[in-house]
Amino acid sequence: MAAHDRIVYLLRQLERASCRCPTHSHTYHQVSPASAPPSCGGVADYAFEMTSSNIRYGEGVTKEIGMDLQNLGARNVCVMTDRTMSCLPPVRAVLDSLAKHSITYRCYDQVRVEPTDSSFKNAIEFARKGDFDVYVAVGGGSAIDTCKAANLYACHPKADFLDFVNAPVGKGQPVSGTLKPLIAVPTTAGTGSETTGVAIFDYEPLKAKTGIASRALRPTLGIVDPLHTLHMPERLAANSGFDVLCHALESYTALPYKERRPRPLNPINRPAYQGSNPISDVWSRHALHIVAKYMKRAVRNPEDVEARSSMHLASVFAGIGFGNAGVHLCHGMSYPISGNVKTFRAKDYDVDHPIVPHGLSVVVTSPAVFAFTGQMCPERHLEAAEILGADVRNAKKEDAGTVLAETLREFLYDLEVEDGLEALGYTREDIPALVEGTIPQERVTKLAPRAHTQEDLAHLFKASLKLY
Ligand SMILES: NC(=O)c1ccc[n+]([C@@H]2O[C@H](COP(=O)([O-])OP(=O)(O)OC[C@H]3O[C@@H](n4cnc5c(N)ncnc54)[C@H](O)[C@@H]3O)[C@@H](O)[C@H]2O)c1
Ligand SMILES: [Fe+2]
Repeated sequence: MAAHDRIVYLLRQLERASCRCPTHSHTYHQVSPASAPPSCGGVADYAFEMTSSNIRYGEGVTKEIGMDLQNLGARNVCVMTDRTMSCLPPVRAVLDSLAKHSITYRCYDQVRVEPTDSSFKNAIEFARKGDFDVYVAVGGGSAIDTCKAANLYACHPKADFLDFVNAPVGKGQPVSGTLKPLIAVPTTAGTGSETTGVAIFDYEPLKAKTGIASRALRPTLGIVDPLHTLHMPERLAANSGFDVLCHALESYTALPYKERRPRPLNPINRPAYQGSNPISDVWSRHALHIVAKYMKRAVRNPEDVEARSSMHLASVFAGIGFGNAGVHLCHGMSYPISGNVKTFRAKDYDVDHPIVPHGLSVVVTSPAVFAFTGQMCPERHLEAAEILGADVRNAKKEDAGTVLAETLREFLYDLEVEDGLEALGYTREDIPALVEGTIPQERVTKLAPRAHTQEDLAHLFKASLKLY
């Protein structure tokens, strides 16, 4: 069965199994009938589970990695990075430390920026052949996610690629075996991938991203060395910072965990993305405060160590927040925006293929999305707008979405974000394909606080064609 047919088939099956209980119909996300995922199957959950991350933070802390590997008893280490990073100081710092501590390693520097299923498979092949006992990922989310997948499949040599990929694209099987230790050294600020159990890739047959999500994927240790972010060119600092902004905003406004359905029969099946909850809220809100205070400085001045370091920490905080609460519409809609890219060339990205960088693909719909979701938790939307600098003293609850949308629009304008989807090469004619690519993203879109149909998604894309 072709990938697209398989998705439609699976979604129809899910629809058939869905709960039609009228008392639950107010809660969330009904994507319109033809391909709807279940709107409210089962009873609501009553619990959430917080996984915390092992993070070491400090200027120059990368030099300790050789000792970490010794402490782990590493015999044969796999270092994964991308081609650009392999010539930059963060990778040199890691390799110097490995050499100093006589660690045997092999370096895979073919990570694709914005990975795909094929690029994941290449890395997996390298890992399967290598008999590695510890993995080290150096770079942004692309390198860290690729390394997570390589470790997962090398530890499951008989698994097919789609076995662990999120349903309905893949089989969504739980990870049963233990993975090798993975140390992540993030160099963007950023995805927070060093804190999450998620690996994202562009599934080429679908022209949209999907991922693998399991707590087993979460790195053993994240080495967060703020000096690495000083090398980021301006647009990379901006786009990866927008990812932090949206992780914080989406997790803070996600459907509350007590409204997420279904409650798992066995706790092992409680998803990593569980909806907003009191612990994630602390991390997400704090990340938002840092973004408000430091992001513009960090983008405009690469030598502003305080601002760049603060954003690096904010990416960790937001990662812990969204890694447990989840994200929703901006991320769900971003996956086809990056997957359907035609010719857009992102400034400051040294790659030989067109890409819409992740943070840009996410933030471009944010004004439309939060204008849409504002009515469901207006206090949170107003609070977020206030944190980002809006004067909300006289704002009405019914205007909460618009207030946050306008605050974001101004923020994006100040940071010179391209003027909407049109500037990224999309037209009205592309909207059906963008909607189609959003439908299989149920894992995240179901956490949107407001019910939505395919027509709503089309409207959100249309409203994002131009931003200003
Ligand atoms: N796993 C997760 O939890 C998670 C969360 C969000 C996003 N993601 C994924 O992460 C990917 C995006 O990652 P990203 O935004 O961190 O960027 P990236 O890893 O795609 O890197 C972008 C470019 O920046 C360069 N680069 C990275 N750090 C640099 C530095 N310090 N100095 C100079 N150049 C540097 C890289 O070489 C690359 O060319 C996407 O695939 C996205 O879907 C994953
Ligand atoms: Fe993200």
